[in-house]
Amino acid sequence: MSGHYDVDAVRKEFPAAERITYLDSGFQTPLALPVKAAIDRFLREGLETAGPKNVWLDRVEAIRAKVAQFLGASADEIAFTKNTSESMNIAANALPLRAGDKVLMLHGDHPNNAYAFLNLQRRGVTVEFVPMTAIVNAETIRPHIDANTRAISMSLVTFHAGHRFDVESIGALCREKNLYFIVDVMQAIGVVPIDAKAMGATVIGSGSHKGLLVPQGLGLLYWDKARTELKPAYLAAASLAEIPSDLIARPDKLKLAASARRFELGNFNLPAIQALGASLDMINAIGVQNIQNHCFDLGDHLIGQLDMLDIRLVGPRERRYRAPHIYVIALPAAEWLGHFEENNIRVSPERDGIRVSFGMFNTFADVDRLIDVIRRRGVKPSHRAA
Ligand SMILES: Cc1ncc(COP(=O)(O)O)c(C=O)c1O
Repeated sequence: MSGHYDVDAVRKEFPAAERITYLDSGFQTPLALPVKAAIDRFLREGLETAGPKNVWLDRVEAIRAKVAQFLGASADEIAFTKNTSESMNIAANALPLRAGDKVLMLHGDHPNNAYAFLNLQRRGVTVEFVPMTAIVNAETIRPHIDANTRAISMSLVTFHAGHRFDVESIGALCREKNLYFIVDVMQAIGVVPIDAKAMGATVIGSGSHKGLLVPQGLGLLYWDKARTELKPAYLAAASLAEIPSDLIARPDKLKLAASARRFELGNFNLPAIQALGASLDMINAIGVQNIQNHCFDLGDHLIGQLDMLDIRLVGPRERRYRAPHIYVIALPAAEWLGHFEENNIRVSPERDGIRVSFGMFNTFADVDRLIDVIRRRGVKPSHRAA
């Protein structure tokens, strides 16, 4: 049970969580029954009616509106993409950057964000990596801004140690300095409440297979529609303000859609978008704030138990600097991963240890099982916290 919602009831929607101690939602969440039901419905409709495309497209728009509400944006600021990488590349190539312009990023941040911007080096754009310190906020970034700086791109939550950076203060700094602000929320969305406007983001990119519970292959993009100077690198009929009714392309009619559809290409990943509709309903029924608080409670419990075993936590300990759901334990992955697998516990190897990541269905008993499996094997003195 949790003080925030009925976790036992939620857990019943995730059959995999009954078969395995699943502590790896930062990698991919297991499928939930309501999400499967949405995909099943899509398949049934395809089989029985050969595809009611209009019905499906109406649902796409309804789900777009749900995504918008979830991010504190309006529906015409949301585009569906393939994954985070695609959203980041769309953003990087849409910014009006020129040779000599500079983008700031965090050293060691997710490569799928970094490469999108490093690729702009071909156009003479410079990327400067700012050191990733435990706290990253406007004041740690400010000294790196110079006359050539045009944009900052970073993750809200790090995948490899569970930092939660102060993007609100960095967004305000970007407004002050007139910089574009691109945020990768992949590791945060569905667990950490996200308010695009409070963040002051120009573009937000994400996938949906972690906190959003959808199988891989669907991404999201938020675009601040006031930034009309952002133009897509690729064009398809759907990107235009007016699609010619005879479907014959005219060289002089290339006006872009005023909405984020300008960044969309061709047909949609319909089953995944309908799955997203179901997962957003689940998340909204619980409340993302409640999911966050529950994960924080699990994290506090985990940290307390690790302290008792004298095992170091790699990332930040304080709630205001840490993600609610991602914790890296300083145990060498090469020695420990197999042990967890043998004990039917799913975690991920990370740069500096073993990553434990929670989903809405995890319980205190899951944490206790993990700790018990660590305790029974014993921790070498050399791996104990200093
Ligand atoms: C911060 C972050 N960005 C992006 C990704 C993944 O990128 P993509 O959605 O393109 O696979 C991950 C993890 O998979 C991540 O943790």
